[in-house]
Amino acid sequence: GMMLLEALHKIKEQDPSLTFRHSCQEGVCGSDGMNINGKNGLSCITPVASLTSPVVIKPLPGMPIIRDLIIEMDLFYQHYQEAKPFLQTEPLDLQHEHLQSPEERAKIDGGYECILCGCCTTSCPSFWWNSDQFLGPAALLAAHRFVIDSRDIKTIDRLKELDDPMKTFRCRHIQNCTNACPKGLNPSRAIQELKNFIVENHE
Ligand code: FES
Repeated sequence: GMMLLEALHKIKEQDPSLTFRHSCQEGVCGSDGMNINGKNGLSCITPVASLTSPVVIKPLPGMPIIRDLIIEMDLFYQHYQEAKPFLQTEPLDLQHEHLQSPEERAKIDGGYECILCGCCTTSCPSFWWNSDQFLGPAALLAAHRFVIDSRDIKTIDRLKELDDPMKTFRCRHIQNCTNACPKGLNPSRAIQELKNFIVENHE
């Protein structure tokens, strides 16, 4: 029942110089994304028994490596920030909640669960080739989550900002992102919907 993260700790007992990020150990914090036998995933929820031997572990691809399994995430977070991952509503009203119907709330299922591990974005060839401009699957999933939120009043502005051949439309739906997501989310489908909203917004 040993998870890969525990195995890495065992290796670290023998070589304390081995460096990797981790925290929650249960697939929630998203800090231990790495490339495991050629597929991005979280070491803490990857059973060693599920892996074929020899197990080859590399840092998440397409990003600068700081040391061992630790990559530089600044660009990833810059793109996330650019997606404006926060609710924009009417002027702050502390007296009332921003209510949603159960149906409106259900629409953001599959979007809010992202833990920002970077497994999707760093598995995307469009991101490897254009990481300075293409926002990548994680940021676009977040953008989609707020575009479809019934409480947000900046939908049109959001779509205009995302209407860009590189930021959004550089996605070619290779679907590595959906294949890699350890939370079972579907960024590729969200980006397709986002593209549809942008095109509809032209009309
Ligand atoms: Fe937190 Fe793996 S250690 S997700």
